[in-house]
Amino acid sequence: MSDDKLIPPSPDAETYARTAVATANAVEIFDREDPFALFADWLTEAKKKEPNDANAVALATADASGLPDVRMVLLKDVDVDGFVFYTNLESGKGGQLAENPQAALCFHWKSLRRQVRVRGAVEPVSAEEADAYFASRARDSRIGAWASKQSRPLESRFALEKSVAREAARFGLGEVPRPPHWSGFRIRPLSLEFWRDRPFRLHDRMFFDRPDLGSTWTVSRLYP
Ligand SMILES: Cc1cc2nc3c(=O)[nH]c(=O)nc-3n(C[C@H](O)[C@H](O)[C@H](O)COP(=O)(O)O)c2cc1C
Repeated sequence: MSDDKLIPPSPDAETYARTAVATANAVEIFDREDPFALFADWLTEAKKKEPNDANAVALATADASGLPDVRMVLLKDVDVDGFVFYTNLESGKGGQLAENPQAALCFHWKSLRRQVRVRGAVEPVSAEEADAYFASRARDSRIGAWASKQSRPLESRFALEKSVAREAARFGLGEVPRPPHWSGFRIRPLSLEFWRDRPFRLHDRMFFDRPDLGSTWTVSRLYP
C-alpha cells in the first residue's frame, strides 16, 4: 500500500481554478500544421519558465527482445530532420539502439503543464555533426567522455577520478578529440503528440502522424 501522505491528492475544483495555466495567451495548438514549429514555440516558452534543463527529455528504447528501457537525456538539436541527443555508443542505450534503431521521447514541462511525445526511427548523426558538437563542450566534459565507460560497472568513485586524471595527463594541453565511442543520434519522427493540461483532466491533445518521412502530416485531436 502506498503512503497517502507521500502521494499528492487529486486536485479539487478550487485547486484547478488556482493552478490552471492560462491558455488565453498561449500559442494556439489546434490550427498548427507544422509540428516542428509548434515544438520550437513550446521549447522557447519552457526555457523561460523551467528552473533548469528545459531541453531534458525521457528517451525510451528497447532491446532486440522488445524489453523497454527509459532514461533522461538532453536534446541538443531539433529541426525538420528530427531530434538529436549525444551519448556513449557503448552504453545501455547505445547497445539497445544498435539492436533496435527506434525510440520514443517524452518531454514534460511541469511549469507549463505540458507534454510532448515523439516516436520514430533512429539514425546516427554524421561524424562532422558529432565532432562540431563535441568541440563545443567544456574541456573537462570532453575528457570525461574519454574517461567514462558509461553504464559498465565502476569499482569506486576513486577509480573514475583516476581514469579522468589519466586521460587529462594523456592529452596534456593538446586538443581533446571526440572519442570513437561517443556520438549522437537523430530521432526522425513518424508521430508527435502535444498535450496541454486543462482542468478536471479534460486535457487538450494534438496528434501529428505520417506513414513515412516523405509524406505530409495528418493532424487530429485525441480524447484526453
Ligand atoms: C537531466 C538529465 C540529462 C541527461 N542527459 C544525458 C545525455 O544527454 N546523454 C547521456 O548519455 N546521458 C544523459 N543523462 C544520464 C542518463 O539518464 C543515463 O543515466 C545514462 O545515459 C546511462 O543510461 P543507459 O545505461 O540507459 O545508456 C542525463 C541524466 C539526466 C537526469
